[in-house]
Amino acid sequence: MGTAVQFSLLSTSPYGSIVDREFSYLTAEYEMKWDILEPAPGSGNFAAGDAIVAFGLARGMRVKGHTLIWHGSTPSWVNTLSASDLRAAVERHIRTVVEHYRGEIDAWDVVNEAVADDGSGLRDTVFLQRLGASYIADAFRLAHQGDPQARLFYNDYGGEGLNAKANRIYELVRELRTAGVPIDGIGLQMHIAANSRPSDGEIAANIRRLAALGLTVHISEMDVRVNSVPGSNAARLEAQKATYHDVVRVCVMEPRCEAVTFWGVTDAHSWIRGDSPLLFDAQYAAKPAYFGVLDAFSGR
Ligand code: XIL
Repeated sequence: MGTAVQFSLLSTSPYGSIVDREFSYLTAEYEMKWDILEPAPGSGNFAAGDAIVAFGLARGMRVKGHTLIWHGSTPSWVNTLSASDLRAAVERHIRTVVEHYRGEIDAWDVVNEAVADDGSGLRDTVFLQRLGASYIADAFRLAHQGDPQARLFYNDYGGEGLNAKANRIYELVRELRTAGVPIDGIGLQMHIAANSRPSDGEIAANIRRLAALGLTVHISEMDVRVNSVPGSNAARLEAQKATYHDVVRVCVMEPRCEAVTFWGVTDAHSWIRGDSPLLFDAQYAAKPAYFGVLDAFSGR
């Protein structure tokens, strides 16, 4: 059971003790992204990421590395590079970061959100434009060289159930497996709303077909928005509880679904502003959603 954490909050109360008590798998919410680690060429801002790793390992938790190649966290200086300089920068970035954390990271999100939202193909990014589609396989091979023990994941959103994007993601990881690229798992992000989400049956079917490729599956960034749910606040929180319960239960029931990570601890610090998508409210009280998750993990 995992959570995304923010370094600056880990030393605050009760945030740190809740993370310590409730979770066993940590993901840095942004501290290990490329634009944070290397805002200018050659800068190496590892301190916050290192502190998250140290916090987790000291408590017997596992730590997930997030994320090596993502259009959303590419430093601006990278966007201006020529193809050959971009290739060199990508290689140096992956090698430097993965080797820095070698032996400490359970799994890396190697490539994040590389499939287009309509499922028509790959997302149009600087990497696709200048390096071609092989940038994905190359990133996995580089990461594997940097830390042969770390498991390597592809991570994306909007393909949790069965739709065009899910099919395209499935084809991508199937091709990677077939080509012998070192990919071990897939993250289904699961940023959803309580009244707009894939059905349990679709999520289970998708997990099963991915597992049949030999992949481990994570629910990797779950949060559940409720603002669009009609009715009272209490009704919203009950709908949120049911959604958390049902999705986590699907993962619990599927043998190759190994972890559920929530994208933050408390509504006070969620990346989704103006909603309340997480398990703890802004005062750090456990919400109905928390007990829905507890039920699912307890087999209820
Ligand atoms: C978000 C973080 O929550 C924010 O703090 C940050 O500013 C931007 O990124 N998909 C991902 C995550 O893979 O890395 C994103 O996290 C949310 C969407």
